[in-house]
Amino acid sequence: MTTRRKFIVETLTSVTAAASVIHPAGRRISKGLSSFEKTFGSTKSTNKPIVISTWDFGIRANEEAWKTLSSGGRALDAVEKGVRIIEADPKINTVGYGGLPDRDGYVTLDASIMDENGNAGAVAFLQHIMHPVSVARLIMEKTPHVMIVGDGALELALANGFKKVNLLTKESKKAWQEWLKTSHYIPVGKYNHDTIGMLALDNSGNISGTCTTSGIAFKYHGRVADSAIIGAGLFVDNEVGAATSTGLGESVIKIAGSHLVVEEMRNGKSPKEACEAAIKRIAEKQKDYKTFQVAFIAINKQGEVGSYAIQKGFQYALYKNGENKLHDSEYLIK
Ligand code: GLY
Repeated sequence: MTTRRKFIVETLTSVTAAASVIHPAGRRISKGLSSFEKTFGSTKSTNKPIVISTWDFGIRANEEAWKTLSSGGRALDAVEKGVRIIEADPKINTVGYGGLPDRDGYVTLDASIMDENGNAGAVAFLQHIMHPVSVARLIMEKTPHVMIVGDGALELALANGFKKVNLLTKESKKAWQEWLKTSHYIPVGKYNHDTIGMLALDNSGNISGTCTTSGIAFKYHGRVADSAIIGAGLFVDNEVGAATSTGLGESVIKIAGSHLVVEEMRNGKSPKEACEAAIKRIAEKQKDYKTFQVAFIAINKQGEVGSYAIQKGFQYALYKNGENKLHDSEYLIK
């Protein structure tokens, strides 16, 4: 049977002497190629491998991902290994081990992952496991489901060799006890949502992505972040590109943010323009947008990247051409 991917590859390789035309979005494309290429331009990646991730801790995550990418490995392996570094770091209190707990003192984790074949896995409200990204991958690869939550996810992880650990560090417990003195819950401002989202394009031209978080500090018990919701905190379409988000998850879920970014790229926008369109959608639809932060990063099939945030201050880490650098994102509220 001819798969869609095989069909595209066969179509592309059968084309010779293609002439150049301009796509309505202004991108130079080639006549005589597949209908996909006619619509979206060349799928030939010029900047690969490449990895992009959110915030300054993305530098360390990229370093790890690069080991896989630079040796010709798969983007899926790179993104999983990359974010595991941050999940395991007790000093980062917004992801994995050491994450700030919910209002009842429980650390509950959310994560998602997508590969180049459109497969998806997600885990939410997971306790006692250091690496939710790997549980999300387990769900994607070893079960017929996309998302498993709570005790069911924990049981699945334990049955597959994951170790039960106490995720609440002394420092996070102290911060929670301090918070309990007022129990004043504001899911904006200082209770940050510095999720790590990571997207990679490997040497074979394939894209994968992941997103992992401990969620909003002192959230309601059982609250789930955008990071675990496919289409909100993460979306990958290997024909077009990928996007992931950080910031106030409720806001991202309401606009199916990462899916929106990928669809904007499908319609001809650059990664930066697509991220900007999603942030502007939030601003149009959510009256209180000035009170919180959301940022998207995106990558397309050509290895171009971009980002956009509501507020000043968001940074992303980009590793390409052998250089791993932190960049300031563009933003809406000047
Ligand atoms: N984006 C992470 C969260 O909302 O908790």
